[in-house]
Amino acid sequence: MSAQLINGKEISRQRLDMVAGRVAERTAKGLHTPCLAVVLVGNDPASAVYVRNKKIACEKVGFRSLSYELPADTSQQQLLELVDKLNADDSVDGILIQLPLPEQIDSQAVLERILPHKDVDGFHPYNVGRLAVKMPLMRPCTPKGVMTLLETCGIDVEGKKAVVVGASNIVGRPQLLELLLARATVTICHSKTRNLAEEVAAADIVVAGVGIPNFIKGEWIKPGAVVIDVGINRLPDGSLCGDVEFEAAKARAAMITPVPGGVGPMTIATLLENTLYAAELHDPA
Ligand code: GUN
Repeated sequence: MSAQLINGKEISRQRLDMVAGRVAERTAKGLHTPCLAVVLVGNDPASAVYVRNKKIACEKVGFRSLSYELPADTSQQQLLELVDKLNADDSVDGILIQLPLPEQIDSQAVLERILPHKDVDGFHPYNVGRLAVKMPLMRPCTPKGVMTLLETCGIDVEGKKAVVVGASNIVGRPQLLELLLARATVTICHSKTRNLAEEVAAADIVVAGVGIPNFIKGEWIKPGAVVIDVGINRLPDGSLCGDVEFEAAKARAAMITPVPGGVGPMTIATLLENTLYAAELHDPA
């Protein structure tokens, strides 16, 4: 068997078209244009690429975007002051602070300063807590984007055994909550998990978000499983690969996301959906 590829690029294009249509409708009604403020601190090259792609996507759908590029030695106080200014600016619907931040900055304190209804990344503990009690407001972009992929591909999650590998705040933990909300039976694995191969082999749905190239072996995948690879790792030759051994997993799975072109574009599409949602909360149609 060779798995069907899940085309995140195409599905994200459809979602962005939908967002663009809603922006045009808002404009026709004289409602304000959604606005995302994107903040980058320091010179991490991967973060600079992600931020550029987010700004390009904003332009494509007709959002306003504000861009703040701060030096690597920015203090926590300076960053908090910028967040306060963006919180108070009524024309700004969403605030995104690109992670990771330089080590002199307490990232969690900065994320907690963002008003929860402007927290389009869904990282504020208020938003994480709402997801945990089945009352989501802003939902973290990558896990929500994964759910959109599954839904769009007609994959019914209810009652399935889902295994999430990686317990980060950005991917693994909120992914566990999203899958639980969709009524999967969820196991989360991390660096202390015993017998990872056995856990993965039991899964109908595997979501990998560990950030280690080819960490999940193809031979662990249950025949007919759905494999969602959140990893985007750059190899020494400059090419990109995921957290899953792609070719070997593809030979066993029913469906699999490629890297690139799988989950990555969905994170951006979901960020724009969240920003539109923030604008709609702020200024309903
Ligand atoms: N760094 C890696 N992924 C993300 C993300 O989804 N949002 C932000 N703000 N930073 C990130």
